[in-house]
Amino acid sequence: MSIFTCGLLLVSALTGVSSTAIRNVSPEQWHALNATVGGRLRSVTPFALPCFSLYNNQSLPVDLQACSAIQVNYTSRNFRVEYETCMNTNSRCLLDSTNPSNLLATEGASCDQGEISPYYIDVDNVSDIQAAFTFSEQTQVPLSIKNTGHDLLGRSRRRDSLGIWTHHLQTMSYHQNFVPALCRGSHRAITVGAGITFEQVYKFADENDVMFVGGYTETVGVSGGWMMGGGHSVLSPSLGLGVDRVLEIKIVTPDGTLRITNACQNTDLFWALRGGGGGTFGVVIESTHLVEQRIPIQVISMTFTPTATNLRRYFEILVNNSVHWSELGWGGHVNSQPAGIVYVNPRVSLAQATASMAQLTGFALANNGTAAVETLPSWFSFFQLFVVKGQSPVGSSAALGSRLIPKALFETPAGRAKLVAHLLAQTAARGMPYIPVGTPIAFDYTPGTTSVTPAWRDSLWHLTSAGVWPYNSTVADIRAALGSLHDFADDLHTLAPSSGSYMNEGDVYESDHEFSYWGPNYPRLLAVKNKYDPLGLLDCWKCVGWKGAAQFPCYPTL
Ligand SMILES: Cc1cc2nc3c(=O)[nH]c(=O)nc-3n(C[C@H](O)[C@H](O)[C@H](O)COP(=O)(O)OP(=O)(O)OC[C@H]3O[C@@H](n4cnc5c(N)ncnc54)[C@H](O)[C@@H]3O)c2cc1C
Ligand SMILES: *[C@@H]1O[C@H](CO)[C@@H](O)[C@H](O)[C@H]1NC(C)=O
Ligand SMILES: *[C@@H]1O[C@H](CO)[C@@H](O)[C@H](O)[C@H]1NC(C)=O
Ligand SMILES: *[C@@H]1O[C@H](CO)[C@@H](O)[C@H](O)[C@H]1NC(C)=O
Ligand SMILES: *[C@@H]1O[C@H](CO)[C@@H](O)[C@H](O)[C@H]1NC(C)=O
Ligand SMILES: *[C@@H]1O[C@H](CO)[C@@H](O)[C@H](O)[C@H]1NC(C)=O
Ligand SMILES: *[C@@H]1O[C@H](CO)[C@@H](O)[C@H](O)[C@H]1NC(C)=O
Ligand SMILES: *[C@@H]1O[C@H](CO)[C@@H](O)[C@H](O)[C@H]1NC(C)=O
Repeated sequence: MSIFTCGLLLVSALTGVSSTAIRNVSPEQWHALNATVGGRLRSVTPFALPCFSLYNNQSLPVDLQACSAIQVNYTSRNFRVEYETCMNTNSRCLLDSTNPSNLLATEGASCDQGEISPYYIDVDNVSDIQAAFTFSEQTQVPLSIKNTGHDLLGRSRRRDSLGIWTHHLQTMSYHQNFVPALCRGSHRAITVGAGITFEQVYKFADENDVMFVGGYTETVGVSGGWMMGGGHSVLSPSLGLGVDRVLEIKIVTPDGTLRITNACQNTDLFWALRGGGGGTFGVVIESTHLVEQRIPIQVISMTFTPTATNLRRYFEILVNNSVHWSELGWGGHVNSQPAGIVYVNPRVSLAQATASMAQLTGFALANNGTAAVETLPSWFSFFQLFVVKGQSPVGSSAALGSRLIPKALFETPAGRAKLVAHLLAQTAARGMPYIPVGTPIAFDYTPGTTSVTPAWRDSLWHLTSAGVWPYNSTVADIRAALGSLHDFADDLHTLAPSSGSYMNEGDVYESDHEFSYWGPNYPRLLAVKNKYDPLGLLDCWKCVGWKGAAQFPCYPTL
């Protein structure tokens, strides 16, 4: 996926409580907050500011040297993780991601603060988080929580908020016998601080001869939105979602209390954190996850050249085989560019892998394609060969629409016909689909243990479409792109009306988001939210207890 950040332009000047609140904070109050957090309060300007001669319409000198460093690295993942996540937003301080040296992006243009919080606390310890909650309660300044800034619905940014940045919580430890506090029974596990990313934990797990089940990306965080929103992995069909594998979460709730949550204490909160979403119940400082023995992985990668005549057959092969493949433990992605798939399976032998994929490999070879089924020694080797090498440059503005597609549709001829017709129509209208196949269909789930929509448990596909727009899009262009994704997602409601969707990769304007994201779990999630955050100090877009669009003026009205 070529997506890195979700850009939503500011459409109107901010009015209401929050802007008034931040403007009423005196320099002495900021100074006092800074003293409380040991000097870790940062004032923040946009990442690309050195390239502009106007900041919020005020003149300032261009810093050519700093600007050229930014241009060179503008589309590099690692550079942007360190810098952009705390210092940039997509709103109105953008370079052209297809050509970062394009002067049209900077000349005469103003670099505006956009949605970036003017102040962040660079969190180092629990008392920093307590200080943020106290400050917000006293000043009415809203809070936002950011780990890596990957949230595709823009939930880790909020204009005129005080940002809580967890990126520097960088601890990792491996436990041969982890016993969740007050519980019995031990597990092989890894504990990560809330700033750790997948790239870091995969390497660390491999060094300890184990495998960590996580996302298809280097730079997303483990303990933030991914874990709390569901967390799919290409290993999920057999090994479960991120929420199925968390053993313990340490969190500071808005009353300032550090709580240990697991199956034996604060169980209501533990359940809510396993699917209720990031940015809602408190600030996580670390999480502990079950790990697996390091084992070989079977991989199939295939590509082909789509034509008017072979697409139907391709989609039929995918649709006809999906139940069987998922039950065998295959998970992966149906890719749009190049067209084809990359699937993995930790459960079967090479011979079983080759046999189960025979129809697809035959198709690829008959259609100017490539196909290889191979055994890799470990998840980490797969990650390095496919995920790290396969990632494209970052820095474009994008959003998604998606829906979980129930297994039942794949089980009848009529359902399969509908799916194939949908895929053909989607391809004609929006290009080849991108389908993460990472639902926990062959995982032995104990019902009721997590708060994601139960639709995850009996779906096979997380069917998506992306909208991407250039740096210089007008608000009308952005509105059109988001509106088209909304229409796409609504069509999928028609295809799978009683299903749901993934809160981390949903349509920004998801219809009936409470049911789509959480199904029957919503009322109980709301009760947990009200119990731990009675003053409503945390709020984010379409999150549990969301106070509504009026609080978030950076999202255009469709
Ligand atoms: C390139 C890319 C690849 C992706 N691949 C996958 C994938 O393979 N599988 C998958 O399931 N999803 C994937 N996603 C979606 C991903 O799960 C979400 O974007 C997720 O929200 C990212 O979480 P984060 O903590 O890294 O990001 P952030 O944007 O920093 O945070 C996301 C949300 O969590 C909150 N949050 C962050 N840290 C904390 C904390 N310490 N305490 C409390 N709340 C916190 C934020 O306030 C926000 O609401 C991908 C996204 C991108 C952009
Ligand atoms: C957290 O940091 C603050 C500021 O540096 C310091 O005063 C405090 O003692 C620290 N608290 C803990 C628990 O480490
Ligand atoms: C907070 O204090 C530190 C150390 O004194 C200083 O470097 C930093 O600039 C201050 N932050 C703000 C926002 O003034
Ligand atoms: C900059 O000026 C333009 C044109 O007058 C105005 O629309 C915009 O709101 C201003 N931006 C800021 C951040 O002041
Ligand atoms: C680009 O970023 C890399 C680190 O990601 C850094 O080593 C390099 O110096 C940067 N380039 C410039 C021109 O600053
Ligand atoms: C065959 O595939 C290659 C890419 O693998 C592509 O460049 C070429 O155009 C394709 N040829 C035909 C006839 O489709
Ligand atoms: C897929 O299954 C349908 C029956 O549901 C059948 O008509 C069709 O030929 C199959 N397609 C392929 C490519 O095997
Ligand atoms: C955006 O910039 C490109 C050139 O970089 C230009 O062709 C296009 O017209 C611009 N679009 C808008 C909406 O200004």
